Amino acid sequence: MTISAPETARPMAVEAARAHSIVARGLVKRFGAMTALGGVDFEVPTGTVTAILGPNGAGKTTAVRILTTLSDADEGSASVAGFDVRTHAREVRRRIGLTAQDATVDPLLTGRENLVMLGQLHQLDRSEARRRAEDLLADFALADAADRLAGTYSGGMRRRLDLAATLVGRPSVLFLDEPTTGLDPRARSELWAVLDTLVNRGTTVLLTTQYLDEAERLANDIIVIDHGRVIARGDARRLKSELGGDQVHVVVVDPADLDAVERTVRGVVGGHVSVDRGARSVVAPTMDGLPALLRVASALSEAGVGVEDLGLRQPSLDEVFLTLTGSPAEDTPRDGGKEAS
Ligand SMILES: Nc1ncnc2c1ncn2[C@@H]1O[C@H](COP(=O)(O)OP(=O)(O)OP(=O)(O)O)[C@@H](O)[C@H]1O
Ligand SMILES: [Mg+2]
Repeated sequence: MTISAPETARPMAVEAARAHSIVARGLVKRFGAMTALGGVDFEVPTGTVTAILGPNGAGKTTAVRILTTLSDADEGSASVAGFDVRTHAREVRRRIGLTAQDATVDPLLTGRENLVMLGQLHQLDRSEARRRAEDLLADFALADAADRLAGTYSGGMRRRLDLAATLVGRPSVLFLDEPTTGLDPRARSELWAVLDTLVNRGTTVLLTTQYLDEAERLANDIIVIDHGRVIARGDARRLKSELGGDQVHVVVVDPADLDAVERTVRGVVGGHVSVDRGARSVVAPTMDGLPALLRVASALSEAGVGVEDLGLRQPSLDEVFLTLTGSPAEDTPRDGGKEAS
């Protein structure tokens, strides 16, 4: 294979790739009157994992499609592995893997056949392609199902096969568009474990997700987007502290106790305590974590309140959006006019 990048462009490209495997600058994408991306900037340091967190319609897939050369931005520029996605799309494609939001493997081939076929597409000879397939089937806990048609796999197995398929060509930069949406909790944590292995091998990963816990579990850095704009970024700890940290969450047995519990929690934790009568729950944000929880537990125990559930939890994505934007997460597209700058 020939390298088509001009020789003069290479040293700079290589330097850039060493620091940041993905760089997006002022990406704008419009669909008619709808602005899907309204000027998005970010970069992903080489060998790290970044999550793009946002609700339906935020622009996550649009960004991934531009970065993986499947779509052109209307404005702005981006580079992946040191190459401009527009001018050096072929170079970019040789270095990336994409697990798209919709399954990409062929349901009428077995797991093994899918991987061998992709290996051959990646120019491996047949025995190399077979070996690669065996390794990936083992890594992704699919060896037992290797000879079943992919169409008969469970959602979790299919997602793992998708991911294995993405890795056949040994990409140095990996894009995962909502890798666990629709999976049950067990399948999610199995997929997370597989992703851990990948990340430990030094692959640079950009993943999109609608789940704050997933972003926190997998990513070094989180970029929160809404309506095509970056509205917050940082590591999970920083984002959560901006959002008010953890929450002490109490569910009482008897709704008649709610007011007393609210007073107790306010006395111990302070801050904005909210009561949900339907859910029989009292929730209070805290920066204090476990010590705050223990104080609430002992105060409730002293008061003799019947508690059904008590714990620390993270704000949900909806609460994150309430805090960041003052409005709940929603999937209704807006036109780009509202944030003209
Ligand atoms: N080809 C298209 N034509 C018209 N509008 C589009 C097209 N692709 C995306 N959009 C719109 O752009 C916005 C962003 O879509 P995008 O698919 O990037 O969102 P997303 O964050 O990936 O959402 P989801 O979580 O549902 O996958 C949405 O309002 C969507 O309807
Ligand atoms: Mg999407």
